[in-house]
Amino acid sequence: MNANVRELAASFDLEKLTGEFYANPYPTHRALREHEPVKRLPNGSYFLTRYDDLVSAYKNTKLFSSDKKKEFFPKYGNSLLYEHHTTSLVFNDPPAHTRVRRLIMGALSPRAIAGMEPDLIALVDRLLGAIAAKGSFELIGDFAAAIPVEVIGNLLDVPHDEREPLRDWSLAILGALEPVISAQVFARGNQAVQDFLAYLEILVERRRAKPGNPERDVLTRLIQGEDNGERLTSKELLHNCIFLLNAGHETTTNLIGNGLVALSEHPLQKKRLIEHPDLIKTAVEEILRFESSNQLGNRMTTERVDLGTVTLGPGTPVTLCIGAANRDPRQFTDPETLDIGRTPNRHLAFATGAHQCAGMALARLEGAIAISRFLARFPNYALKGQPVRGGRVRFRGFLSVPCLAG
Ligand code: HEM
Repeated sequence: MNANVRELAASFDLEKLTGEFYANPYPTHRALREHEPVKRLPNGSYFLTRYDDLVSAYKNTKLFSSDKKKEFFPKYGNSLLYEHHTTSLVFNDPPAHTRVRRLIMGALSPRAIAGMEPDLIALVDRLLGAIAAKGSFELIGDFAAAIPVEVIGNLLDVPHDEREPLRDWSLAILGALEPVISAQVFARGNQAVQDFLAYLEILVERRRAKPGNPERDVLTRLIQGEDNGERLTSKELLHNCIFLLNAGHETTTNLIGNGLVALSEHPLQKKRLIEHPDLIKTAVEEILRFESSNQLGNRMTTERVDLGTVTLGPGTPVTLCIGAANRDPRQFTDPETLDIGRTPNRHLAFATGAHQCAGMALARLEGAIAISRFLARFPNYALKGQPVRGGRVRFRGFLSVPCLAG
């Protein structure tokens, strides 16, 4: 048994993952955490799985850089995908990152987010009504994915009849972030950036001509900048709007989809949540920990770094495995158990440090409203057949989950 576990850690290669890993990565995560927590991969990069190592990397932006210019150039060349990813705040270091983040955090203010709640409740109830009328439904397409696309559309006030392509653009751009991509995935990603930019240029022009309320409309706020005169350049504005639209789509779809699938697989926890709806906040945190929708983060070392007994040279690419850290027994009691009342729960699903998710308050609100209202309306929902996984290593979730409303 132990030999098998050692072998699982020894043979791990992020570029050659098996179907078994996609279905259930946690035995491999455990093997790595125990036997090779700072794992050197065949391509010379390192894969980190321990909670404490991830926290140190996330918190030390000087030693662990988010700037991806060096890493992405060989992958994307001089393309729009390259321009997009290297202009997004998430792939920059301070001070460029600090300035853009300040403007985005100002736009995603608690007031702007609280103002979204009534529309969000109305949207969720509308979707639940449509599901009730059908009886048999598809959890992702009919529910989980339909929520973030509307919420993010509302955030930037994209007219309803112009929202349809947003999700496909997002999926194509984020798909190109997978560790290994085909020429076709690259071409689709590039085309999506081009189409997205062309659309946003029009949207920004319209908004400049007719500004919205900066307290509620994030795009108006980003165009106008802060009172101290700080503004995004037009390139920063367009690419960071694309990033915002992307960041909130697949991740939040997966939070809702993973949550409702996990609850149906853990009937006692589901019953507990139905009987104690006030547990929804801790339940959402536990779902984020247990099936983290964003499984991987990336950094590059800027200097020599010692991690335990392993020394990493400067310029080493490092993958931070959030999914593994979130089940580290040194941090979480019974980490393989889904416990919707778990406290404390200092999971890393939103990362930590300077780049901690700027949309986490919104994601938490969406998750809580979607899951609690779904359970209240369909306490006896059941999976009908096998859910189909998304087949991505970075974003963990389902493509489709056939269900009965019950
Ligand atoms: C369950 C849903 C979500 C998850 C799991 C998630 C996860 C994350 C993670 C792990 C990061 C850190 C990336 C890194 O530095 O390596 C991040 C950053 C970010 N997220 Fe989210 N996210 C979610 C939803 C959202 C939403 C709804 C929005 C926007 C409305 C958003 C906007 C952002 C932004 C702007 C950043 C970059 C922050 C920075 O670099 O300073 N996210 N997110």
